[in-house]
Amino acid sequence: MRRLAVRMVTLLALAAAATPAAAQSLEEAAPPAGFFAEHRARFVEAMEGGLAVFPAQPVIPRNDDAEYPHRQDSDFWYLTGFREPGAVAVIRADAPEGERYVLFVRPRDPEQEVWTGLRAGVAGAREEFGADLAWPIDSLEAVLPRWLEETDRVWYDASEDHPWAHPGLEAILAEWEEAGVARELRDADEITSGLRLVKSPAELDHLRKAVEITGDAHRAAIAAIEPGMYEYEVEALIEYVFRVRGSPRVGFESIVGSGPNATILHYVENDRRMEAGDVVVMDIGAEWNLYTADITRTVPVDGVFSPEQEAIYRIVLDAQKAGIGAVRPGATLADVHRRAVEVVTGGLIGIGLLSGTVEENVASGAYRRFFMHGTSHWLGLDVHDVGGYAVGEGEARRPRALEPGMVFSVEPGIYVAEGTEGVDPKWWNIGVRIEDDVVVTEHGAENLSEAVPREVEEIEALMQGLGVPDPVPEPAVEPAPAR
Ligand code: GLY
Repeated sequence: MRRLAVRMVTLLALAAAATPAAAQSLEEAAPPAGFFAEHRARFVEAMEGGLAVFPAQPVIPRNDDAEYPHRQDSDFWYLTGFREPGAVAVIRADAPEGERYVLFVRPRDPEQEVWTGLRAGVAGAREEFGADLAWPIDSLEAVLPRWLEETDRVWYDASEDHPWAHPGLEAILAEWEEAGVARELRDADEITSGLRLVKSPAELDHLRKAVEITGDAHRAAIAAIEPGMYEYEVEALIEYVFRVRGSPRVGFESIVGSGPNATILHYVENDRRMEAGDVVVMDIGAEWNLYTADITRTVPVDGVFSPEQEAIYRIVLDAQKAGIGAVRPGATLADVHRRAVEVVTGGLIGIGLLSGTVEENVASGAYRRFFMHGTSHWLGLDVHDVGGYAVGEGEARRPRALEPGMVFSVEPGIYVAEGTEGVDPKWWNIGVRIEDDVVVTEHGAENLSEAVPREVEEIEALMQGLGVPDPVPEPAVEPAPAR
């Protein structure tokens, strides 16, 4: 018991040491004026007329008396900035100025608010959130069909990403669609995914903040890890740093996988006791204003990479650098992946885990035994953010060309599971993934998470107390708004 208490004190001190003093104020956290209005204006421009409907993320019950934590739907927030559940946003492209942007919201209810918190209400929807018109959510069934009668085009995202449509909404839309042959229900995601794919400078600021907080958590965790700790202690330390720096939540479940778990790509149980001789993969991301980072580091639990771990680590690091080196406007994520695959494959041949030439192994896909995932995914409000990876139809279909402002992960890995056939056991249970968050710039790329230690020497120094993070222990006190 005493040992655990001593360790927790040490962990918290390390977390504090990784936590720069700059306190966040709510004003700093809030998006700049015009942020959401600009998104709506760009959405309206792309609509070619008609009406768009966006339901908010509802509260999802966990049982009779408890709920899963609420986080606003990303499209809904991107267009409105409104964080409450029980709302529907309507954008009417053809309506007169001053009647285009409508919010249906939960009305004020002092009795309910005592239990579940303040609501903006109908007046707040107009005054604080800039709605041209606002109605109580219960009026939706009466008001929306009238507007629908005036249009032949409705934009609505009915994908499985949004299984939480406001009750009654899909029935209203289905009835409208069936009642007229010329009526078309278009997928709103066609527009929002295109808009969200290219980040504005203000969005990049949010991502930079999420990356900075996530980097501090990595430094604290790397400095604290030692044999005998449980994976969940590392998870707790990471998420402590997130919260104390004002991040409202994780962007996805934290992955802390050691030993055999390092070779499981989306391992989230985080309940194993780490041992000397293990590596541990930490794939984590803090949110800031709903934008999430996604950064992975892999470190040796006892502070020094074994020769086999180091050999694999250096291959993955070289592959990651080669992948990032391929990023520029006009290149594609397929180019980034190809470079990473070539370097991983060459490295695996070099250490004897593959035989033959790089070309043969790439052509046959043999490298996938050890590197079985893609190198990149879009990143933004969602960890696997919206946006197609290919454009065009049929024979003209091709990988999407990168443009300045696009943000994605570059995360090659090598995973050698225990018992992998034909592989010397000295390589077993080594899983290495290195992931950074990259934005395309006018002439190349910026690695947003470059400052998070990833060289072998940096990691070993940090683990041995030689490169301890900035000694500024004051935690931030004012968080980013959570709702
Ligand atoms: N970093 C977790 C994921 O990409 O799914």
